[in-house]
Parts: sequence; structure tokens; C-alpha cells
Amino acid sequence: MKKVIKNGTIVTATDTYKADILIENGKISMIGQQIELDGAEEVDATGNYVFPGGIDPHTHLEMPFGGTVSRDDFETGTIAAAFGGTTTVIDFCLTNKGEPIANAIQTWHDKSKNKAVIDYGFHLMIGEINENVLNELPAVIEEEGITSFKVFMAYKNVLQADDETLFRTLVTAKELGALVMVHAENGDVIDYLTKKALAEGHTDPVYHALTRPPEVEGEATGRAAQLTGLAKSQLYVVHVSCADAVEKITEARNKGIDIWGETCPQYLVLDISDLEKPDFEGAKYVWSPPLREKQHQEALWSALKNGQLQTLGSDQCSFDFKGQKDLGKGDFTKIPNGGPMIEDRVSILFSEGVKKGRITLNQFVDIMSTRNAKLFGLFPQKGTIAVGSDADVVIFDPLAERVLSAETHHMAVDYNAFEGMEITGEAVTVISKGEFVIKNKQFVGELGSGKYLKRAKYGELKKEDE
Ligand code: URP
Ligand code: ZN
Ligand code: ZN
Repeated sequence: MKKVIKNGTIVTATDTYKADILIENGKISMIGQQIELDGAEEVDATGNYVFPGGIDPHTHLEMPFGGTVSRDDFETGTIAAAFGGTTTVIDFCLTNKGEPIANAIQTWHDKSKNKAVIDYGFHLMIGEINENVLNELPAVIEEEGITSFKVFMAYKNVLQADDETLFRTLVTAKELGALVMVHAENGDVIDYLTKKALAEGHTDPVYHALTRPPEVEGEATGRAAQLTGLAKSQLYVVHVSCADAVEKITEARNKGIDIWGETCPQYLVLDISDLEKPDFEGAKYVWSPPLREKQHQEALWSALKNGQLQTLGSDQCSFDFKGQKDLGKGDFTKIPNGGPMIEDRVSILFSEGVKKGRITLNQFVDIMSTRNAKLFGLFPQKGTIAVGSDADVVIFDPLAERVLSAETHHMAVDYNAFEGMEITGEAVTVISKGEFVIKNKQFVGELGSGKYLKRAKYGELKKEDE
């Protein structure tokens, strides 16, 4: 059914203005003043902002990791994302060495099909480069539309790739038109520091952070950036947590290297002291990279403001406190790494960023949506409010005040990392491809209505953008 969103303030990455939006056949078909209803359903947005739906470029839904499987799947994860104002997620498809990539991708299609309530795409993990992998990658790009590859520089003996693999991935990505993503921490140094800490009897959650200091992230980020320059390739550094990594990205960008940086809500708001909470509660705050000393937060905010970092991902990888995080009682290395973040990503950026004057409203839209669409081959189908774009739209009340809590969130997990935090702003109504997913704060979507997205190659869209 046709819809007209009336009386709202449209906010894109570049403009803020009052206008109505006509939605037909899943697309935005007109933007104008006082559009006639002409049989369409009226959606009143008086007093609210109207944003393009959020694009979360970094999720791990139902992912086997840390001896267990992340709790939120494509059903609960995408419902929670929609409640938070996100209408697209790009999830990481893990591969196993020696196994065909096609099998791994099929596993991810099987996990997501008939479950997702918003659109989704996949990134592909590269753990090894050999003839078989090189033979499969062209089809990954051309047929599956997976145009981003992920390399882990950490998690030794599990996901970690060596520098040869990273470098060859960069070279191949350049040839094929893909963006390389890195988890930038020096896994070998972490391995040494971890074994040393355990040998000295240090088993509490805070040692997760103390054995992965900012220097190991800075070093790996700098190394990845240098290799990107050497390969004349393109790099996206995921979950940047500290000033050391920001410095390396900035240095490389200043040299003309094609490098982008993402941070996550947890690094903007939480800090290392959370890992010291009593009764093993610190385990709730175990991420890699870890939470940092508070001064790193302002470095990240100013990097978002100045464009040294460009995006915000959730790094959604949730584990229950009871039954999952507690696998690491008595040994911090066994705490599954990751947390629940998919639902609160957009609101945290709005409340802590826009409301506190750290970024502008238009920067907010760019960081949580538009830039992600551009980097990951979805723009202008996604990531903006424009005629011809998918009608992925969020009606957002900028004055709503609420308290984040596991009691009220929609993620499947049994805690909220921001429990008790007061924030301002809330997605009231969320539309995906012209259909309501959230209407007046109620879920009205349909399982399986989210569609798999084949994405354009890196570079094709970037040219238009610049
Ligand atoms: O701790 C984290 N970040 N868990 C998810 C996996 C990853 O490294 O992104
Ligand atoms: Zn990571
Ligand atoms: Zn991640």
C-alpha cells in the first residue's frame, strides 16, 4: 500500500529540511511539500526526524565463537536492530581452512533465510589464500555480490591470518574490486601476554584488557595500513577502540592510502573500569579489542567529528551472562568475546553524539547509515532519503527520554551492556522497503521479509560519491 510520511523533518548526510515523502512499491517515489494522500496511508511524523534506515556494517549473528554460538540470530538480531532504527545489517560469514568458500556462504544463507526482518548482506572471512580460494573469489563477488573480505590479525590458532594472507588478500581485493576489512590487533603479542598473565595467576576479566594494550592495536593498524599502501589497495579497520589506532589511520590517510575506520558504541561510552565489576560482572564487558582507559573516548569522538573515523558498527556478538560468559570463570581467556549492541547503536550515537554536541545531525546520519552504504556498495539504493531509493525510513523522536535495560530491550541476550543508562531519542516507526517493521514502537514485521543484498564492487560507487 502507498504511504505518505507527513510533517516530518528529513535528515540526510547533507541536508535537513521539512517535506513529505511518498512511498510506492517499496521505493521513495516523491519528496515534496504537502503531497496529496490520494488513497495512500498517512504516516504522521510531526515533531520527529525522518532518517534513512541505519546500516550496521558489522554483525555476528548466530556465529560459532569462543566455544559457543552468539545468542542473537537473524531473527532476534534483526528484530532488535529494527527496534533501534537499523534497516540493513552486513554480517560476517566465517570460513574454515580447507573447506570450499561456497559451503560457508551457503551456511550463512541457511541461517538467515526466512528469519531476517530487514535486508542483509555478508562479508567473507579470508583465513587462507591458496589456488582454491583464488579460484572461488571471482564468483563470490560476481554471483554472490559479496564485495568485502575480512582478515583477522588476532585470535591466534583460531581465526588469525598471517601477514602473507593479509597482503595477498589486499592484492586480490584490489584486482577484483573488494574492500578488505581487518580486525587489527597483534595476535602473537597478545598470545604471549595472555600466557604470561595466566602463568602469574591472573584470571579475572580485567586481564583480558591488560593483555591487549592499545599498542598492540596501534601496531597492527599501522602494519595493515602500510601493507595496504604497498598493495595500492583499500582497507576498512573494524572496531577501532583507541587513540593509537586512530593515529595510524590518520597518518595513512594523510599519505593518500585508501583506508577507513569504524568504531563501536561500547568504545565511545564504556571503559576499562567496567571490566573490574565484582561477581564476575566484568565478563559482560569483554570485547576484542578491549574497553580502554576513559581518555580514549574523546579521541574517538573527535575522530568521528573530524572524519578520521567514518562509521559506527555494532560488532553485535551477544552471549548470555549465565551459561555463556561464565564459561570464563577462573580463566579470562575462556570468556566469549563480544556483546549485545545491535539495538542501541543508533540511539547511543544520537544521544551521546548529537545531543551532547559532539557531532552534527547530518554527521550522525552519515556515520550510522550513508557512509556504510557508500563503502559497502549499497548507495543510493540504501543509506539516503532520495527519489528512487529503497523506502527504508526511520521516524525518530528526538525528545523521547528512556533508560536502556535488559528488561525492555529486544535482543535475546540476558543483559544490556548499558543497563540503567539514560538516553534521549527513540525510533518510533521503522519502514523497510515500504512496509512497517516497527509501528508506534510495536513490532509488526514478518519473518523472512528481509532480503539478501548483492552489493556493488568497491570503487564503482565511490567514484560517484566523490
Ligand atoms: O569481541 C568481539 N569483537 N567479538 C566479535 C568478534 C570480533 O572480533 O569482531
Ligand atoms: Zn574483531
Ligand atoms: Zn566483530
